[in-house]
Amino acid sequence: MQMPALTLQDYRRLAQERMERPVWDFFEGGAGEEHTLAANERAFDRVRLRPTVLRPAAGPDTTCKILGRTWAAPIGVAPMAFHTLAHPDGELATVRAAAARGLPVTVSTFAGRACEELAAAAAGAPLWLQLYCFRDRSVTRRLIERAERAGAEALVLTVDAPRLGRRLRDVRNDFRLPPHIVPANLDGGGFSSPAAHARAELDPSLDWSAVPWLRSVTSLPVLVKGVLTAPDALRAVEAGVDGIIVSNHGGRQLDGVPATLEALPEIAAAVRGACPVLIDGGIRRGRDVLACLALGADAALVGRPVLHGLAAGGEDGVGGVLDILLEELQDAMTLTGTRSLADILPDLVRTGEPW
Ligand code: FNR
Repeated sequence: MQMPALTLQDYRRLAQERMERPVWDFFEGGAGEEHTLAANERAFDRVRLRPTVLRPAAGPDTTCKILGRTWAAPIGVAPMAFHTLAHPDGELATVRAAAARGLPVTVSTFAGRACEELAAAAAGAPLWLQLYCFRDRSVTRRLIERAERAGAEALVLTVDAPRLGRRLRDVRNDFRLPPHIVPANLDGGGFSSPAAHARAELDPSLDWSAVPWLRSVTSLPVLVKGVLTAPDALRAVEAGVDGIIVSNHGGRQLDGVPATLEALPEIAAAVRGACPVLIDGGIRRGRDVLACLALGADAALVGRPVLHGLAAGGEDGVGGVLDILLEELQDAMTLTGTRSLADILPDLVRTGEPW
C-alpha cells in the first residue's frame, strides 16, 4: 500500500514517478547551473522562527485581503505555462482545487485551457491573468480583452523575460511540446519549442511604458512580476502599479540572481506599503509562508508543487498540496503564538546556518 503524501516533497516524488523525463526537466529545471533555483529553497532553510509561548493561537485566522478581495490564506498559485503537460485537465483542475479552498490562481499567457471555462470553475475565487508582451501588441491586447470579459480580476505583467533564460536541460533534451499541447487563449495556434517561440514572438524591447499602455487598454489592476531590487520596486511604484511580485521566475531566467527571500526585505522596505508585495520561489512548507510575511510580503505564490500535485492526482492532487500548505501554516501560526497575519512581524524570524 502506498503511504499518503504528507509533505510537498512527497508529492514531488509521486510526480516524478509519473512523468516523462523531458517534461519533468522542463518543470523542474532552471537557468544555467541552477544556483538561483537551489538558492530559492535553501533560503528558507536559513530561517529560524521565534515563537511566543503562552499566547493561545488555536484556530488562527489565516485570511488576508489583497486588492480588495479576501483570500482564505496568503497563498496563491503562481502562473505556469501548460498545466496540461502535467494532467489532461490542466488549469481546470488547478483552478477548481484552489477555488474550493478560497485561494487565487494566476493563469499563464500559455495556459492550456480556455479562460472562460477557468473563470466559470473559479466560481467567485480570484482569477488573475499573467501577461507576456508579444512583439505584436494586438495579440496581447486581444488576450487581455478576452480574459477581462471572462472575469479575470488582475493582470500580472512578467518583467523578467525580455528573452527566455538559458535552460540547459531543455537545450540538451531538445525539449518540444507534444502537438496536442497548445495555448488555449492566444490566436495563432501552437508551437513546438517554447524557447524558439519566445525568441520569435516576445517583445525584447519592453520597458516601463508598458504600464501606461496596459492602463490604456484595461481597467484591471496591474501587477509586475519579476522585481528583485529596491530601485526597480520604486520604479514600479512610480509607474503606478497595483502590486509587485518579487520573483526570479523560479530560477528559470538569470542564474546568479539572489533567492527571492533574500531580495524581499529591501523591496518591502522600499515600497513601504505603497502597494501589496507578493513573492514566489522555493515555497515548499506552510512555515515558509510565515517567513515571507515576516520579511515583508503580503502573500506568497507557489509554483512547481502545484504541478507536482496535478501530475500526481489531478484536482485531488492539487487539493492535497494546498491542504498541506494550509495545515502547515495553521500549525506554524498556532505554535508561534500567531493569532492572525497582523501578528506576523519581522521579529518572528532570525537568519541562521542552513539546516
Ligand atoms: C513558470 N513560471 C512562469 N512565470 C510566468 O510569469 N509565466 C509563465 O508562463 C511561467 N511558466 C512557468 C512554467 C513552469 C513549468 C514553471 C516551473 C514556472 C514561473 C512561476 O510563475 C514562478 O515564478 C516560479 O515557478 C515560482 O517558483 P517555485 O514555486 O516553482 O519554486
